[in-house]
Amino acid sequence: MNERNSKLEQVKEEIRMRLDIVTVVERYVALKRAGTSYKGLCPFHKEKSPSFHVNPDRSIFHCFGCGKGGDVFAFLMEIEGVSFMEALKQAGREVGVAVESAQNRNQTYSGPTLNRDVAYAANGHAMNYFYEEMKKSTEAIEYFRSRGLTGETVREFRLGFAPDSWDGLINYLNVQRISPQTAALAGLAVTSSGGSRPYDRFRKRVIYPILDMAGRPVAFGGRTMDPEGQPKYLNSPETVLYRKNRIFYGLHQARTEIREKGSVIIVEGYMDMLMLYQAGIQNAIATCGTAMTVEHGHLLRRITGLVYLVFDGDNAGYQAAERAVQNLFPLEIDLRVVILPLGEDPDSIINSFGPERFNELLSGAVTGLEFYISRLSADGESETPQGKSRIVTSLATLLGGVQNQVLVAHFGRELAARFGVEEVLFRRMISQKNDSNRAGFESDQGKRERDLESLLNSEEGSLLHLLLTKPDQLFQWKEKISIELFSNSLFRNLYSLIVSKDVDHTSLIDEMDDPTMRDLFSLMLIRESLESSESIGHKVLKLEKNIIDRKIEQISRQLSMATRAEDKMRLLSEQSHLLKAQKGRRSNT
Ligand code: CTP
Ligand code: MN
Repeated sequence: MNERNSKLEQVKEEIRMRLDIVTVVERYVALKRAGTSYKGLCPFHKEKSPSFHVNPDRSIFHCFGCGKGGDVFAFLMEIEGVSFMEALKQAGREVGVAVESAQNRNQTYSGPTLNRDVAYAANGHAMNYFYEEMKKSTEAIEYFRSRGLTGETVREFRLGFAPDSWDGLINYLNVQRISPQTAALAGLAVTSSGGSRPYDRFRKRVIYPILDMAGRPVAFGGRTMDPEGQPKYLNSPETVLYRKNRIFYGLHQARTEIREKGSVIIVEGYMDMLMLYQAGIQNAIATCGTAMTVEHGHLLRRITGLVYLVFDGDNAGYQAAERAVQNLFPLEIDLRVVILPLGEDPDSIINSFGPERFNELLSGAVTGLEFYISRLSADGESETPQGKSRIVTSLATLLGGVQNQVLVAHFGRELAARFGVEEVLFRRMISQKNDSNRAGFESDQGKRERDLESLLNSEEGSLLHLLLTKPDQLFQWKEKISIELFSNSLFRNLYSLIVSKDVDHTSLIDEMDDPTMRDLFSLMLIRESLESSESIGHKVLKLEKNIIDRKIEQISRQLSMATRAEDKMRLLSEQSHLLKAQKGRRSNT
């Protein structure tokens, strides 16, 4: 951990110690005392009986209804819709602890688990490799030049080149002590179905590194330089670091300008983002080959209130824009849609007409709602009663997703008048849609909660729960319990996080990027394990036995497929070895 990290860590702990979580939560939720903790109606989902708990001793909250949980910073982030640093500053002000200069959360907290760190390292080395290879390749340099990119843009975005080699990157990573297997896990190499040695995923392509907000490479897009080449783009698969729904290409470079301008422009392609940036339009970012999702929307809402969606003028573009409106409108983001002339994309517009033309198109944007209405009316059906009814129903569905009732009333009035329906009728349609949306939402939450419960009650989960709530036991057992004991990667990561740091457990929450892990963790902390410490030993033995069982199973499967005599011999001997071990255990327990 570097100096800045540990400093921030200290500040965070200081604030947590001084600030009473109950005092903070009480500003938003009426809390009643219940034993050692407090409970009230959850502010994050609609409920009639309280399932939202706050535990002041552990400085943590958890809702048994929707599964949300975390520390006081997580609470502020969620309820105020602010970033971690903002939550920290806000909390700091209350207790008189200064939090210095705005730093991005991702910059200050590198993922703590080994897997993530190794994955970051692998991607970082890969980016350097591609960049160095690009400098050696006249073909790649010429390609970028022909697309109109300057050397400066290529440098700033670390555009690269993957040479025509099956193991160039693998060998380079090997020198950096990153194994081919790790490279494969990080999405940089591919293991063929024959199961032989992994080989480089990216070959003979120019490379666009995809960075997270903090500027760390988490994935790559590789484009063929051959106009006939297939596929045109080959991208990293999703990994621990890369979730397409959450990442925008160029956000690291564009984020300052987005804040300053107060708006963001969403485009579809890597090249579109780059050309706009180079032309001085620097608040544009690109999705990574996916539609705009609700998750994208939540992320955007945290950084800006005005979102321009720029789509190609073909059928796919219209459909993508329509879906984007459906996903983002309920989030109360001010949306504007621009549909480009058929056959153009932002890149071609900049190249053929310059940035002024692009800005002109931008100023002709229509609101998301108007765009949606024009799409609904496009087939000329709006004149017939059936057509009108269909449009009104679709609009009611769209508005049904909006929670802010002031907005619903506003649009309800306006649209009812426009389409000539009784306002009362239209409002009733909206609230019916609202109920059905919410019913769907609540059953999702119910399922989520059951999932958390079953995770908690599983063999592995209950062991982890027990260790977590009994720190003295954790101290005794951590040398004896290998991480292999946990077959579920969620528990595995959680366990390695818990034993990797000698800090108050609650503070680990801010380092968990996986929401399921965070919710499970807060559930474990808020609900004391009812089991006794004695059962730890039994559970460990049981899980160790499971590992052997799994191995035996695996060997039987391999045996049934083995054809060579020597393979069979080897497998049989391994099997008898394991069976013996298993018997030994049984007589021990
Ligand atoms: N895309 C992808 N896989 C493909 C095609 C497209 O992931 N096989 C994604 C890429 O992120 C790409 C975006 O969709 O940037 C838009 O695709 P397209 O319009 O075909 O490419 P351009 O961005 O215009 O790229 P170029 O100008 O280099 O042709
Ligand atoms: Mn293009």
